[in-house]
Amino acid sequence: MEDRIRVGVIGAGTMGAGIAQVAAQAGHPVLLFDTRPDAVAAALKGLAGTMEKLVAKGKFIRSDADALLGRIRPAATLGDLSGCGLTIEAIVEDLGIKKKLFSQLEELLAPDAILASNTSSLAITAIAAACQRPERVIGLHFFNPAPIMPLVEVVPGLLTEPELPERCGKLVRGWGKTPVVCKDTPGFIVNRVARPFYGESIRIHEEGIADMASIDHALKSVGGFRMGPFELMDLIGNDINFAVTRSVWEAFYYDPRYKPSLTQQRQVESGQLGRKTGIGYYDHTGSSAAPDPILGPGVAEAITERVLAMLINEAVDALFLQVASKSDLDLAVIKGVNYPKGLLAWADEKGADHWLRVLEGLQAEHGEDRYRPSPLLRRMARDKGKFF
Ligand code: NAI
Repeated sequence: MEDRIRVGVIGAGTMGAGIAQVAAQAGHPVLLFDTRPDAVAAALKGLAGTMEKLVAKGKFIRSDADALLGRIRPAATLGDLSGCGLTIEAIVEDLGIKKKLFSQLEELLAPDAILASNTSSLAITAIAAACQRPERVIGLHFFNPAPIMPLVEVVPGLLTEPELPERCGKLVRGWGKTPVVCKDTPGFIVNRVARPFYGESIRIHEEGIADMASIDHALKSVGGFRMGPFELMDLIGNDINFAVTRSVWEAFYYDPRYKPSLTQQRQVESGQLGRKTGIGYYDHTGSSAAPDPILGPGVAEAITERVLAMLINEAVDALFLQVASKSDLDLAVIKGVNYPKGLLAWADEKGADHWLRVLEGLQAEHGEDRYRPSPLLRRMARDKGKFF
């Protein structure tokens, strides 16, 4: 029975530990493997601590917490995973190392076992190329922290068996997750569509339109975003956020729409990475008060419109290029990055012609291809169409 298959998780770091917890919580026996000898023990110790806190908060009864922990066992060698019906790889983000692992796994596992990768930035098709049977390789991209964030991007590679996305979607839905299916393209859905939230906000700051605290304030108060872009980059870590932006830009053959910013690069070079180093765009050491936002009349609205126009254009273009269905594109940003609403539904509120005008204004002013409107946005504006 698929809902009780043995799940092997490879890589016991941040994501692997979280994914192991999610699968065990759904009742699967889980085997956890890592090449670093103490990593599995550390992950199990961390999980035990997490369950202890959840029991203390009344979110779990002790017997269920103990049963969950009892279902996760360390695997001493990769060979111990041979009885798994599904493996989820969450190791270092390196194509060569992942390919080697997948070819080893294929040798070990039964012919009908599913081999999933949690990669954020590598092509599933490229990882699957290491296998004799690439049809059983798929992307299952969880979000951090995996036990809390509901979204899972299900990514079939070019040669993945056509039924596999649906089977995996059903499986992770049973784990309480929200699956969305997307094409094997750079950044999948969220890491592609969300780029302008950071990139355009940095541009607005670079152009001297507003300071960071004001931009954050605008996007929260007018846009309804839970966190502002600079606060969020400090939480994610500027090194990680910059690396994702860079990898999406490179993977799109240097499309100017995804160009990373020098401001963020300097931030990384200076070691001011955000909360984890105490200082990022803001001071998190508590030694200085957070700056107050200073915004003239209408500036918060204008800032928000500019960022939203870029986000909407990105979502519309992903729909145009058939990266995912319109409902999955909207679900992905709500469940993966906590947006207050889906970008296509947001586009409908003012209509495509409004957003087209904003983008054309930006393109005329800046003369940059970065602001080029998606052909689908033009079509929708011309036809006065709605996405929903
Ligand atoms: P991490 O650095 O916390 O953990 C990676 C673990 O893999 C380490 O314990 C390491 O010892 C182990 N490892 C490395 N090579 C191995 C191998 N050949 N065999 C077995 N174990 C090996 O990394 P993290 O953040 O958990 O990321 C893992 C994967 O998940 C990456 O592909 C990353 O792109 C992806 N991802 C990360 C997210 C995040 O927010 N951290 C979110 C979604 C995906």
